[in-house]
Amino acid sequence: MTALWWRDAVVYQVYPRSFASAGGSGEGDLRGIQSRLEYLSELGVTAIWLNPFYPSPMRDSGYDVADYCGVDPKFGTLEDVDALIGAAGRLDIRVIIDIVPNHCSAEHPWFREALADRPGGTARERFVFRDRPNNWESHFGGPAWTQVPDGQWYLHLFDSSQPDFNWRHPDVVAMFERVLRFWLDRGVAAIRIDMANTLFKQAALPDLPPDAVSWPYYHQPEIHELYRSWRAILDSYPADEFPGPRGAVAEIWFNHPEEVLPYLTAQGLPQTFNFRLMRVPWAAGELRSVIDEARDMTRNSTGSMPWVLGNHDVTRLVSRLGVDQNLIRVPTDEWRRGTAHVDVALGTRRARAAALLLLALPGSAYIYQGDELGLPEHFDIPTARREDPTFHRNGGTAIGRDGCRIPMPWSGDAAPFGFTHEPTRTWLPQPNWSALTVETQSAKPDSMLNLYREALSLRHGHPALGDGDLEWLDQGDDVLVFRREPDFLFALNLRDETVSLPPGYRILLASGPVPDGSLPTDTAVWLTS
Ligand code: NOJ
Repeated sequence: MTALWWRDAVVYQVYPRSFASAGGSGEGDLRGIQSRLEYLSELGVTAIWLNPFYPSPMRDSGYDVADYCGVDPKFGTLEDVDALIGAAGRLDIRVIIDIVPNHCSAEHPWFREALADRPGGTARERFVFRDRPNNWESHFGGPAWTQVPDGQWYLHLFDSSQPDFNWRHPDVVAMFERVLRFWLDRGVAAIRIDMANTLFKQAALPDLPPDAVSWPYYHQPEIHELYRSWRAILDSYPADEFPGPRGAVAEIWFNHPEEVLPYLTAQGLPQTFNFRLMRVPWAAGELRSVIDEARDMTRNSTGSMPWVLGNHDVTRLVSRLGVDQNLIRVPTDEWRRGTAHVDVALGTRRARAAALLLLALPGSAYIYQGDELGLPEHFDIPTARREDPTFHRNGGTAIGRDGCRIPMPWSGDAAPFGFTHEPTRTWLPQPNWSALTVETQSAKPDSMLNLYREALSLRHGHPALGDGDLEWLDQGDDVLVFRREPDFLFALNLRDETVSLPPGYRILLASGPVPDGSLPTDTAVWLTS
């Protein structure tokens, strides 16, 4: 492990609402997470990232924060957070929390004050109130502005229940400094910054031209000064005791490398996510080009970009890889609605190979809860049970993200599959996942779960894996082979026929059967000489 633990960390993303419930309700809680720490320790992760657990009306599953220094009673108490951080630390697992600085909840006291104030009043200055809206649209569909009874409009890049802060207001800057220190003082190892690139809007709030390729609220220059001040706060904590130096990873969906590099300076953010693997089809050329792009981007940078195959905003990996990959190339949502044929067996075979790719690539990796079980997207959620505001704001034409947020199946033959000890209905319905539970997969040597466990245990302390670089070897079209020094080879066959394994190597781990030294389609191997 290098001194900067995040550079090669394997981070497990815990979606608290859907991980485990100790309280017996249909929603997860902090004590539920603590009760499953042994599972995460056996899996072999460096850290867990918790999605928001703050007091929230849950209009966007907790990304509508009403109090940045509290805990929603449904998840537990501050003492439960402290206990979780302590218990995780004893297992050498760091805790990363989500900071949501772009917007808060309409229930936040400041927004209530703003609503009670008059147009032009000082309480409105912490948000973006105007007499007339511009033409911006919400990321969740519909206009990005909502009118209040006195005629003014406020800006919300997401749901109308999530008003955007005015980051040019000193109160906002000061509040988040307090928030960062509040959690870092409690032993939080790093922060994940939600919508890290949208905090500052161009002051004139210009209309968006019809052919816009960049947005007047993306990557505004002031953002870097803000993150330099956050980095100074992170760096003010002692680095020589657990959890070590305090990190930050920014959620930035970038179009071009030039947009993200300015964030990754020595005084800026240590990490921004690399989401490219969630966007490319399962094809050798495209996979190789996103890997090379990342190598180029970070070659001369102090920052690093963790790899991600799945998260709570994106269709589950198994289902993504189980559809005709041409559908991923074109901008259509049809397959996300479950209308395209999803070959789960094919998606699972590819997801196994993708896991070995993820964990062999240089740098850090994030694993979204349930991907280690190979959970597919749950497409058949009844309309009445859907929660995601993207579904409701689009009149159901956008299917939303509920299907990747289903409560985890731990054990047993029927819902709630050990998610809670009471026979309650879970907040989102679970399909019949009896074959995918942790219990079932633990007993099956070749399960997805055991593949992850083996890969993580081999990766831990392996001199070739984690931080560093790779070197491509040419094994012909549609076969990805790279070497990592010392003495590690990765091979993935994306051709529609079996290929020979490179000679002179022995297999450390394979994503599927590898008969007689030949590598079948959609199969990956880790090799050593
Ligand atoms: C990104 C989060 O990952 C997503 O779940 C959320 O809906 C938006 N930011 C708004 O906070």
